[in-house]
Amino acid sequence: MSQIVYVNGDYVAAEDAKVSVFDRGFLMADAVYEVTSVIGGKLVDFDGHATRLQRSMSELEMVSPVTMEDLLEIHRQLVARNDLDEGGIYLQITRGAPDSRDFVWPDPDEVKCGIVLFTFEKALVDSKVMDDGIKVISMDDIRWGRRDIKTTQLLYPSFAKMQAKKAGAADAWLVEDGFVTEGTANNAYIVKDGTIITRQLGNDILHGITRAAILRFAKEAQMQVEERPFTIEEAQAADEAFVTSATGFAQPVIDIDGATIGTGKPGSISKRLREIYTEEMTKAAI
Ligand code: PDD
Repeated sequence: MSQIVYVNGDYVAAEDAKVSVFDRGFLMADAVYEVTSVIGGKLVDFDGHATRLQRSMSELEMVSPVTMEDLLEIHRQLVARNDLDEGGIYLQITRGAPDSRDFVWPDPDEVKCGIVLFTFEKALVDSKVMDDGIKVISMDDIRWGRRDIKTTQLLYPSFAKMQAKKAGAADAWLVEDGFVTEGTANNAYIVKDGTIITRQLGNDILHGITRAAILRFAKEAQMQVEERPFTIEEAQAADEAFVTSATGFAQPVIDIDGATIGTGKPGSISKRLREIYTEEMTKAAI
């Protein structure tokens, strides 16, 4: 069975899906996206992702081509049509395809936003990477200043991930003015003396949907949370480190720029948070 994707109103086989060469997502990365995970055929934190999507669009003056109710139905249809049990759904909304390449945004009454969704399979609950933890390297954060908007401008994160791969690591932690902002596609945390430390929200990081849930669960479990910036040196001296994202849940970090974190094994707080997150989000999935 070929994969079924959703393109501008139609469910089609992936090989038959078409978008215009004039699409501004393709030409200018003039597009926003979301990735929602799926466990047991159900959507994890759909409302959180839909709310952030609306915010990304409104910050960029995009008019959604679908209602949020439609969007839920499209997600569910794709899960069903692809028989997806565990993995995720990628959604992208672009500013559409005007008939020329103009830096000025087209009038939204004349050019409708484009929309594409597809599913992917990925082991989320049981994963060796989660059990073993990952190594990260640090790199300068030279992305644009509105990282709170989830745009498809992913060349630098992708470049940074390649540098990490070449260095034998799994990811890069990005550093601006001496402080860690986030990972290439995840939020970054350290744990010291039982306190979970992660950068406060602002325009300089993505407001992770997983981050919001993890911090809520941490507080409910009476763990101490501090939202403030930290340096690579502080992270290297921490007891634990981890990252969160929709497709990674809470993933332990065991090495930063060659320095072993804690014992070199995933820490107990990271593990506990991962367990709580998996359990609670599986229960709440829709
Ligand atoms: N990335 N920071 C960045 C830069 C991200 O790209 C992501 C998500 C996150 C975590 O956000 P959330 O918890 O809402 O997934 C933080 C997705 C998974 C991706 O690009 O594939």
